[in-house]
Amino acid sequence: MAKKITDKVTWVGKIDWELKEFHGNEYSTNKGSSYNSYLIRDKKTVLIDTVWQPYDKEFVSRLKQEIDLKEIDYIIANHGEIDHSGALPELLREIPNTPVYCTAKGAQILKAHYHEDWNFVTVKTGDTLDIGENKLIFVEAPMLHWPDSMFTYMTGENILFSNDAFGQHFATESLYNDLVDNSELYAEAIKYYANILTPFSALVIKKIHEVLGFNLPVDLICPSHGIIWKENPTQIVEQYLKWADNYQENQITIIYDTMWNATRKMAEAIAEGILEADKSVTVKLFNSSKEDKNDIITEVFRSKAVLLGSPTVNNGYLHSLGGLIEMMKGLKFKKKSAAAFGSYGWSGEVVKQLTEEIEKCGFKVVDEGHRSLWVPDEAELSVCKEYGKEFISKL
Ligand code: FEO
Repeated sequence: MAKKITDKVTWVGKIDWELKEFHGNEYSTNKGSSYNSYLIRDKKTVLIDTVWQPYDKEFVSRLKQEIDLKEIDYIIANHGEIDHSGALPELLREIPNTPVYCTAKGAQILKAHYHEDWNFVTVKTGDTLDIGENKLIFVEAPMLHWPDSMFTYMTGENILFSNDAFGQHFATESLYNDLVDNSELYAEAIKYYANILTPFSALVIKKIHEVLGFNLPVDLICPSHGIIWKENPTQIVEQYLKWADNYQENQITIIYDTMWNATRKMAEAIAEGILEADKSVTVKLFNSSKEDKNDIITEVFRSKAVLLGSPTVNNGYLHSLGGLIEMMKGLKFKKKSAAAFGSYGWSGEVVKQLTEEIEKCGFKVVDEGHRSLWVPDEAELSVCKEYGKEFISKL
């Protein structure tokens, strides 16, 4: 159902309560998501973004209930990824000559996805589109998070249509930030930042300062996923500046996998040692084979240090650690420290292997890690505890 946001702007997107995986299986969307599309009715009529392809027919048929499609003068494609462009083929079959405004990269990406020669109009930062009483100002935002990404600002209503930036995978019928549980909202917003935007943090800071430099008033930030920032809308901009600045809390995260609990016992003893040495630090433990990978990544994002643990199995570490290590390499966390631990029976090379991987993740290696032979007894658990104390003393 369409939802009126202002006299001139209506939300016409899709709330996807069922979505549990996004980007294939790369991102868990336990709280669903939404694909936000916005219809602007000024003297000209403009549609900003569409929805994911499985909902294309539903989207177009609901849009027809809201407006005669022939009245749409312009389509703005802020981003070519299919969760926002997926309904363009269905829509443009009905109104084929409608201009599609996007960046030059956006036109390339849309052509490469849909193999259609639509009426593309490419725009750059500072270009404007007169829509009657108001105008739209385009701001390129390359690599936030694709090369084609773009923001669109609407004057008069003072709305920033920020596409993926400032979004959250959070299905809710309540459209605005002041109508939802803010702890839930921020849990999804930080997960989204940690898992998607971390590698682009330097660009986030640069782009935010560039946009702030335009001195445009902002009454609403309308992202393409989740809620609209209405109450103190720039709070999320300020939060992004903090997250982008090598964010960390006084937290140490211990991530381990275990076959017969020896490495788990080590993890718990190390955690005990850390807390004995410093009661102010938050220590969290996760068995990587049992916890949501994206929630673990979010905890890594919040941490100043990380410990990775695995037993040695077939001369390597357990596979659940492998996936997380690949994710951490790609996300390029900065200014975090780490070390490895694990139990072993004979060859025992995993701690050395994990330490090498930690370095490839860009973490500062604190020390050479700690190994326990077979199942740790009380004496060995005391050694693990001491290792935890030493680890935190070296941070
Ligand atoms: Fe980059 Fe929501 O798509």
